[in-house]
Amino acid sequence: MKILVTGGAGFIGSHTLVELNAAGHDTVVVDNLSNSNRKSLERVAELTGKEIPFYEVDIRDRKGLNRVMEAHHFDACIHFAGLKAVGESVEKPWEYYENNIGGTLTLLDVMRHHGCKNIIFSSSATVYGDPAIIPITEECPKGHCTNPYGQTKSMLEEIMMDMQKADKEWNIVLLRYFNPIGAHPSGRIGENPNGIPNNLMPYITQVAIGKRKELGVFGNDYPTPDGTGVRDYIHVCDLAAAHVCALKAIIRQSGIGIYNIGTGHGYSVLDMVKAFIRVNGVDVPYSIKPRRAGDIATCYCNPAKAKAELGWEAIYGLEEMVRDSWNWQKNNPNGY
Ligand code: NAD
Ligand code: UD1
Repeated sequence: MKILVTGGAGFIGSHTLVELNAAGHDTVVVDNLSNSNRKSLERVAELTGKEIPFYEVDIRDRKGLNRVMEAHHFDACIHFAGLKAVGESVEKPWEYYENNIGGTLTLLDVMRHHGCKNIIFSSSATVYGDPAIIPITEECPKGHCTNPYGQTKSMLEEIMMDMQKADKEWNIVLLRYFNPIGAHPSGRIGENPNGIPNNLMPYITQVAIGKRKELGVFGNDYPTPDGTGVRDYIHVCDLAAAHVCALKAIIRQSGIGIYNIGTGHGYSVLDMVKAFIRVNGVDVPYSIKPRRAGDIATCYCNPAKAKAELGWEAIYGLEEMVRDSWNWQKNNPNGY
């Protein structure tokens, strides 16, 4: 199939390009490089042995998107492009709504005008808020999102569901990612955060390499086995593979499919730190800090629906996740 990959130069997009090309798909990338670097695409070309056509186009740019869609006939779009920093979204809500919602509305409109109505959308576990059911199934009601980033994911899900109700030609897969970490085992592509990382794993790797003094563990008084927050960490290559499975489903079935993409295992912050130290043989100094505003105690999923309907399940375990995160950081101390 020929796939339009928006946000393909980013963390999850670059890993998904590798999986898609390995599965025999043709890919074309649209990215405005606002949070990424051309080098990721050069590395993808190196890993796949294929040049990946790239357009430096913003998804809010209707003319630019039209040019891309006129030059290629796409079977489907995998839509990663968006802003994703939770804290920044609280400071700049307009920018988040305009980029994520405005951009996606333009993309959907251009797609339908070109007769391409198959889309896989990057949603997030954040739509469950403080989850009512653990492990979280897709039936778990959506919760209150405490930040504009989360709101954009939740609203975009609703928008796409309404569009599909009105036009049955749309085939839409909403993938609710849990906590992606790790990197391609080659160490050539990985996560490349700007500035001080917000997320746990890039913070750990930057402490391990000596860029940051110590990790702050945000709270040890949660109702969890060791008091620190529990999450469903998933290897980014497993996450990438889920998109290949979702593509098979999108041509088989019609309608809306919503899937949790996680491993189903919950690990605490201290589980992660200890596994990282043990597997990689490097030290990660840490100290306990107050809870971070907006955090929840426990978040992990039941991924059974994705296995039953998409034929997908995670294969990488905790050791591979911490190994590959470190391998990427060690080989690319300053990112790309
Ligand atoms: P990323 O920032 O590495 O990748 C997003 C890409 O989109 C970047 O290359 C950026 O330059 C591009 N982009 C942003 N706005 C754009 C626009 N208007 N036009 C064109 N390109 C634009 O992020 P990621 O971690 O790879 O995340 C990919 C998607 O998955 C995002 O939608 C994100 O919200 C979602 N998601 C990520 C996580 C996570 O923990 N990483 C969790 C859940 C959901
Ligand atoms: C965060 C976002 C969520 C987003 C997800 C994936 C918030 C409130 N939520 O989720 O919307 O979908 O990333 O991108 O930001 N931790 C520390 N020290 C650190 C960093 C994190 O102890 O320096 C802890 C956190 O308290 C949490 C766990 O590590 O218990 C994971 O944190 P993080 O990687 O930021 O992901 P989430 O909070 O799950």
